[in-house]
Amino acid sequence: METGVSEGTAQRIGVPREIFPGEKRVATVPEVVEKLIKLGFKVAVEAGAGEQANFSDDTYRAAGAEIIEGAGALWAASDIVFKVRGPTTDEVGLLRQGGTLISFIWPAQNPELMQQLAAKKATVLAIDALPRMLSRAQKMDALTSMAGVTGYRAVIEAANAFGRFFNGQITAAGKVPPAKVFIAGAGVAGLAAIGTAAGLGAIVRANDTRAEVADQVTSLGGEFVKVDYEEEGGGGGGYAKVMSEGFQQAQREMYAKQAKEVDIIITTALIPGKPAPKLITADMVKTMKPGSVIVDMAAEQGGNCELTVPGEAVVRHGVTIVGYTDLASRLAKQSSTLYASNLFRLTEELCKTKDGIVNVNMEDDAIRGLTVTKEGSITWPAPAPKLPAAATAPAKPAAAPVAKKGGHGHGGGDSEPIAGNKLAIFFGVAAALFWLIGASAPPAFLGHFTVFVLACFVGYMVVWNVKPALHTPLMSVTNAISSIIAIGALVQISPIVGAASRPDSLITWVAGAGIVLTAINMFGGFAVTQRMLAMFRK
Ligand code: NAI
Repeated sequence: METGVSEGTAQRIGVPREIFPGEKRVATVPEVVEKLIKLGFKVAVEAGAGEQANFSDDTYRAAGAEIIEGAGALWAASDIVFKVRGPTTDEVGLLRQGGTLISFIWPAQNPELMQQLAAKKATVLAIDALPRMLSRAQKMDALTSMAGVTGYRAVIEAANAFGRFFNGQITAAGKVPPAKVFIAGAGVAGLAAIGTAAGLGAIVRANDTRAEVADQVTSLGGEFVKVDYEEEGGGGGGYAKVMSEGFQQAQREMYAKQAKEVDIIITTALIPGKPAPKLITADMVKTMKPGSVIVDMAAEQGGNCELTVPGEAVVRHGVTIVGYTDLASRLAKQSSTLYASNLFRLTEELCKTKDGIVNVNMEDDAIRGLTVTKEGSITWPAPAPKLPAAATAPAKPAAAPVAKKGGHGHGGGDSEPIAGNKLAIFFGVAAALFWLIGASAPPAFLGHFTVFVLACFVGYMVVWNVKPALHTPLMSVTNAISSIIAIGALVQISPIVGAASRPDSLITWVAGAGIVLTAINMFGGFAVTQRMLAMFRK
């Protein structure tokens, strides 16, 4: 193999066929097999594992995987097993003693499975336990990628069950009004559903208890419908909380009104660790127009609609209520590709040396969060990761000055630009260079050069002392500040003090246009920064 890793030391990643009834996804795809091999691993896939997701054994073979017949042989041959669904008791029996497993586990809901895995001395990384708020973890976030797929698919299921167009049309036969879609819960899945329904031409409305998602709803082409009751809906970590009785009452009234007006309701509302909130009552279903559709994406957690039957599509009071719990699996090729990609990104983190051997580094916040058993000891739940953003600020004492020997900066727990003595050497060399340039360069150059050096220094200090999570708002605010070049245009446009003539009209027009454009940059930049910073505030 081109990796240069000796075949003997490289670990083998094994991908079994999913055995959960109706599960069509597979934990890796041929395109990702190639990348895993480049990381130094050997890859084995159970014969037929990708068939339901339209990946044939031959395509895996062509990508460099070995195809192994039968689950027993595959599990026995694998140092690391990649799966989608958590293993069954039989599958745990097949896992090697001391083996590694990466899949969905849901440790809180499956204490027995956790005990079985621990008894196997296994190291298990539960992809559902990823600390999602770490921006570094986003590329591995399978919950998000699966939610994106399910949100899309929910709209497709709704369109399938609905007897009309989504978009409004004017045809020779008459005018067709656009469908009205109401989305309850605008998290990852809800936002995907909004984008998809709006893309199909429907009028889309949405509601969420977390008011901060209103802008996201609007940006995807939806209208945010507020509940007429003031209450903060965030329960921490970007998730929702159970709302007060007063709020719930006001929300029911609003939902009852929407139910009468809209053609399709897609519900996605979830609260971690709690049953799904019941948002659509049987009475509301009765008031919906015949032929309307409800897709209840929370069916597996008890459903957002009182009449949902998990796993089935039923008709109640003339309304089709879709309670499928396998929406991601219904788009198996897409969801497998995204899931495989999330696992590849995770593998990259686990094998930074690219030598085909995983290192479960418990010092790494993301890896620590994912690891639910390590060599047989249960390590779940993980302590909360150290978030870089200001989101954690209220809990912490005001950031203690770092007061390193270099004597600069504060507030950056992990920001230690250069150690004291290194800094002294750096400044010494810089001063010598500066003196050399100063001795030989023309005086005009020296002035500009001094400003340039000071700007570099100030820029460096600013960037380094700002937490990495805040670099994007920092960029937008510096972009806004850069609009100070407007001063140049102002100088051009104004009559020069003491000069007899005004600047010629072309210069005035160009300078005027310059002022308008930089003003947009300036005010837009500050507005965007304000919004971004608001996302970090509680
Ligand atoms: P989820 O699947 O737990 O919940 C879905 C949605 O239902 C949430 O938006 C929630 O506010 C809403 N909801 C709950 N109860 C409700 C009620 N009674 N009425 C109306 N809506 C209700 O959440 P999901 O989609 O997994 O993620 C939620 C949020 O987590 C995201 O919007 C984001 O803010 C955050 N997140 C952050 C990530 C990151 O920073 N990397 C990655 C993924 C999510």
